[in-house]
Amino acid sequence: MNPIKTLRSVIRFERIETDRVERRLARAASVADLRRIAKRRLPGGVFDYIDGAAEDERTLAANQAAFSSVTFRPRVLTGTEKVDISATILGRPIDYPLVLAPTGFTRIADPQGELAVARAAARAGLPYTLSTLSTRSIEEVRAVSDGRLWFQVYAWRDRGLVKEMIERASSARYEALVLTVDTAVLGRRERDVRRGFSLPPKIGPRTIVDGALHPGWTWAFVRAEPIRFANVAGRSVGDGASPVSLSDYVNAQFDPALSWDDIDWLRSVWDGPIVLKGVQTVEDAIIAADRGVDAIALSNHGGRQLDGAPAILPLVAPVADAVGGRTEIICDGGVRRGSDIAKAVAAGANAVMAGRAYLYGLGAGGERGVDKVLDWFRADLVRTMSLLGVASVADLDRSFVSLC
Ligand code: FNR
Repeated sequence: MNPIKTLRSVIRFERIETDRVERRLARAASVADLRRIAKRRLPGGVFDYIDGAAEDERTLAANQAAFSSVTFRPRVLTGTEKVDISATILGRPIDYPLVLAPTGFTRIADPQGELAVARAAARAGLPYTLSTLSTRSIEEVRAVSDGRLWFQVYAWRDRGLVKEMIERASSARYEALVLTVDTAVLGRRERDVRRGFSLPPKIGPRTIVDGALHPGWTWAFVRAEPIRFANVAGRSVGDGASPVSLSDYVNAQFDPALSWDDIDWLRSVWDGPIVLKGVQTVEDAIIAADRGVDAIALSNHGGRQLDGAPAILPLVAPVADAVGGRTEIICDGGVRRGSDIAKAVAAGANAVMAGRAYLYGLGAGGERGVDKVLDWFRADLVRTMSLLGVASVADLDRSFVSLC
């Protein structure tokens, strides 16, 4: 017997991956892994801007803890051979019940920023919500995506500016407006306060050291065109071309006196669906449904606004009982796996939104990192539903979870 031949028959050599991004991403098996990689790759201030939340970050922790505390009730011998994870949102089909949440200043994680996220969302058959405070404009994002796009609006004091942005979104075939209503003033994000974080980051001794320790990010950042709030570029409100703290900017520009009557104003300038994002009580969900919004997004802004606000998942069932059928229900905060999507849908949500999950992917590996997250979510959901013995999203109801 030839020992070399025998050895060759049992040993399989691994192909050496020459692409650095692929090599990095190949080491990740979960969103938590991508978060760790993003933490290594991004300067501390940038990572903390994405990862951090308000004050003691209790609400941030509560969002995720709520998913951990809900357990499944799997059914066996159901004869379920295939599962169908497709769903609908705002009356139109989606590949699975996920919408990409709006996140401001996305190019801080990767120079491609919103363009990368929009392309990945379109490939996955999911809607992408562009933030008002995006670093690529309404039109630039539409130019790279034929997919479903939603536009998130904040209530600027200058309503003329809001109206103009809405008209631009309409011309660029954005499908829905997402009005965020949890930002009367900016939450106190203490990681950003401690670091003196501004958008874009100010150059000083601390940022130079932070940048030098993260050369991959820094090299890409200095070569890319400067980051600014692309939807208001060159406007008198300030476009972030010179460093500004987010709280100074938001507190100066956004209208804290926004009220329910402003929904009627929004209707007068926008024909399409309206999603109200930031609802956190059953009472407000009922008012929103009475006002005829097309969907509510139960959200505490990923814990970045009012620390001590309730975790989102436990709100879904009572809100579904109160207004389900009259308005669609989306929820966000703490979604890190496809099984989290399954829990929220089982509780009564039509779909969930996720923010940090795709930002960790973007920070860890650019557009391919976002693809990876969306592929995992899809595969997780198929596997979770198979293990639950439920054949379709429509059949995924409260009998499959123990809500506490
Ligand atoms: C946000 N979020 C947010 N929401 C919004 O309406 N407009 C915005 O511009 C932003 N910007 C933003 C930036 C960053 C870095 C994060 C992490 C979040 C909130 C976002 O839409 C969503 O509500 C949360 O991200 C949901 O929580 P998870 O998925 O991050 O846990």
